[in-house]
Amino acid sequence: MSNNVIAIDGPAASGKGTVSKAISEKLQFNYLDTGKLYRAIGAKYLEGYEPISAAQNLDNNDLKIYDLQKPEIAQVASEIALIPEVRAALLQFQRNFSKKLPGAVLDGRDIGTVVCPDAKVKIFLTASLDSRASRRYFELVKQDTKISLETILDQIRQRDERDQKRRSSPLVAAVDAKVIDTSDLSIKEAVDEVFAYVRSKI
Ligand code: C5P
Repeated sequence: MSNNVIAIDGPAASGKGTVSKAISEKLQFNYLDTGKLYRAIGAKYLEGYEPISAAQNLDNNDLKIYDLQKPEIAQVASEIALIPEVRAALLQFQRNFSKKLPGAVLDGRDIGTVVCPDAKVKIFLTASLDSRASRRYFELVKQDTKISLETILDQIRQRDERDQKRRSSPLVAAVDAKVIDTSDLSIKEAVDEVFAYVRSKI
């Protein structure tokens, strides 16, 4: 029997991380933010490591030592995410995680389409570019990062384009994913809507 896997995909700042964490806590499932893997390889690349071998040798410490929330790391993460060998190297790490009991929530771009195509629940969270950019802006301002809303809009637009247009595992909703637009939802409303859907499936 396949494990309880919940795949939550969507573009940058669509609310995936917050919602996925909340769902994993409600169900007491394991949670993996797969963007962190790409960000860690991006951080290593900025330090001079070759990205394919960094991905092949990724260990849990890499996920702890860098400040992975930095906007410049997000940008370089979406560049190294274009490399098919990097994606292939990270695939096994993600699939192994998805087997953890009693279940796992994974969020990313290609979880429902490539990493866990047999996931019991697939959700594609989306939101307008403006609402995603302003959410990310307020998050970063709270952490004292000095950045303008225009710069964030621009960075998210570029990442969306790279993520959607790449040849290897592009960002796209799985045909059997439930698409939820969070533009006009509060965090609580988004979590409640996703949780109700998950409950109808598991
Ligand atoms: O989700 P997050 O914004 O942290 O992801 C950073 C970048 O990593 C994304 O813009 C995307 O290019 C890449 N990524 C990916 N596949 C995933 C998760 C993240 O390509 N499953």
